[in-house]
Amino acid sequence: MTIKLGVLISGSGTNLQAIIDAIAVGTLDASVELVISSKPDAFGLKRAEQAGIPTMALSREVYEDPIAADEIIAGELRRAGCDYVVMAGYMRMVHEPVLLAFEDRVVNIHPALLPSFKGAHGIADAFHAGVKVTGVTVHFANAAYDEGPIIAQRAVDILPDDTLDTLEERIHEVEHVLYPQTLQLLAEGRVRLVINESGRKITAISPS
Ligand code: GRF
Repeated sequence: MTIKLGVLISGSGTNLQAIIDAIAVGTLDASVELVISSKPDAFGLKRAEQAGIPTMALSREVYEDPIAADEIIAGELRRAGCDYVVMAGYMRMVHEPVLLAFEDRVVNIHPALLPSFKGAHGIADAFHAGVKVTGVTVHFANAAYDEGPIIAQRAVDILPDDTLDTLEERIHEVEHVLYPQTLQLLAEGRVRLVINESGRKITAISPS
């Protein structure tokens, strides 16, 4: 099944680009219907325009009322016919208007192995903590930031001679592979939500 994506960005949009590229080469059975940026000068908007994707940028003033902002976003995503909302470097929380309109269909990427190193500085926090392994997580977003059901994770070793820059580079390389691959799992209908023994909502991935 081809899934229709709405992508939320705030910055350079390299993950958006990886998704656009995977669609172009046929490894991701999806289309990007709309890109919404929380920043009007985000470079990711240029990437979307280059690919002929409709864009929308919301000003800082719009976010003064975060719920009203999310009502606008949910309305636009729905109008564009999106099946899934893909957060790709979106530096805002998503709230009820989006979460309810797209229940269990809002996806986020985080540059650490959740539940470790939540928050806006996942790569640096792992680096400074001195852990030997960090990585990338793709998960469903819910009202608790960085805590929704995990869909996929990939580990990245922190090497003895790594600097924050070299680690960041490798994390981003992994993100650009893992995000399109995980979205393809959704396109193939292989991701189910189940309740585990602790009463927690988790994903079950069916084999291909
Ligand atoms: C990525 O590292 C992502 O994990 C984090 O923000 C960064 C976005 O980068 N949430 P880009 O805008 O996709 O280049």
